[in-house]
Amino acid sequence: MKLKIALLKGDGIGPEVTAQAVKCLQAVEESFGHEFTFTEALVGAVAIDKTGDPLPEETLALCRESDAVLFGSIGDPKYDNDPDAKIRPEQGLLRLRQELGLFCNIRPIKVFPTLMEKSPIKKKIIAGTDFVIYRELTGGIYFGEKHLSPDGTMASDTCAYTEAEVSRIAHMAFKTAKTRRKKVTLVDKANVLESSRLWRRVVKKIGESYPEVTLDFMFIDNAAMQLLLKPTQFDVILTENMFGDILSDEGSAIGGSIGLLPSASVGENHALFEPVHGSFPQAKGKDIANPVASILSVAMLLDHFKLDEESRAIVIAVLKSIKKGIVSPDLNTSSKYGTNHIGDFISENIRDSDDYLILNKENIWLGKSTII
Ligand code: NAD
Ligand code: IPM
Ligand code: MN
Repeated sequence: MKLKIALLKGDGIGPEVTAQAVKCLQAVEESFGHEFTFTEALVGAVAIDKTGDPLPEETLALCRESDAVLFGSIGDPKYDNDPDAKIRPEQGLLRLRQELGLFCNIRPIKVFPTLMEKSPIKKKIIAGTDFVIYRELTGGIYFGEKHLSPDGTMASDTCAYTEAEVSRIAHMAFKTAKTRRKKVTLVDKANVLESSRLWRRVVKKIGESYPEVTLDFMFIDNAAMQLLLKPTQFDVILTENMFGDILSDEGSAIGGSIGLLPSASVGENHALFEPVHGSFPQAKGKDIANPVASILSVAMLLDHFKLDEESRAIVIAVLKSIKKGIVSPDLNTSSKYGTNHIGDFISENIRDSDDYLILNKENIWLGKSTII
């Protein structure tokens, strides 16, 4: 298969972790006989520095004409610490999601059996955790009207949703649930928010056309607690933009590190793949960032193009690295392995993944609905 991939490395650790993901795609390209081309473009704080715009026109044009976007991360302390900055790196990512119509953000959360003791939560609670968050990505409070009073003493952000916006992602969540454990949990704040009551009404109606899927509802405050008390109760979590953002970082603690969590953002015509984590500026250039989230994001990319075996080869190589203790300091404080070395190990093991089946305990990672 020929794939044209736009490479938006961004800020902080973005360039370091995407470099490892690219190595893995190149290993897949060679081992399975595909042709992937990578074209780089600016986004985020580096794009502001060079062009004044966090999403320059040519970056957007490249993404539009590519088959997929591989995104690193954006964000820089000089903007984080300056609430008055009008142009901000995050605007680049938000505009990109909106312009490409990437309304559905898919964030799978599973535990690696060999990493269970790295979790701050007891093993007996997290064992078998395997859920996926369907986060709405182009609506809600992120994109509603914003207002700051002229004297700077009052500000507001509006959370607005239309039935159509809720409906299109709800269908995707139900379709995925059908291939998994057949349960959708809608997380909202319908006891308080009008927008959440719209979500409940629309999702309930759609649920009737998926009789094989159980639909339940949970308020966000309770869901934040249940995620830590009994994560195994969840299969597909469907939720709006900001709740999904928060729950996914919380969920990352279950598996031991946010450096392990990949994501896919899809719409009608485009798809973007990126780790859940941010630019982790404290780690920039130190060769300590965990590249696995970015590497598993390209496994999701391959899944998206139905390259199942190829995706599996990446997941298996990741499992092998973890099993052998070739992990970054977030998972082992005394680790002697850096970002680059881990990327080399994983990509080399894609080239010769001989020992698939020492991994039967990790089967949770290898089912049909492994990644997406
Ligand atoms: P962050 O995800 O960058 O880092 C939070 C913490 O998570 C870090 O201190 C570190 O302990 C851990 N972590 C994150 N990535 C890791 C990795 N690959 N390996 C090991 N540990 C990792 O979030 P933050 O500190 O809240 O934000 C920093 C910047 O990133 C901000 O400017 C923010 O806006 C931006 N951000 C960008 C994205 C994105 O590009 N999609 C996502 C989240 C935050
Ligand atoms: C994420 C990030 C982004 C979000 C920020 C950087 C705009 O936190 O991808 O999870 O809030 O969506
Ligand atoms: Mn986030």
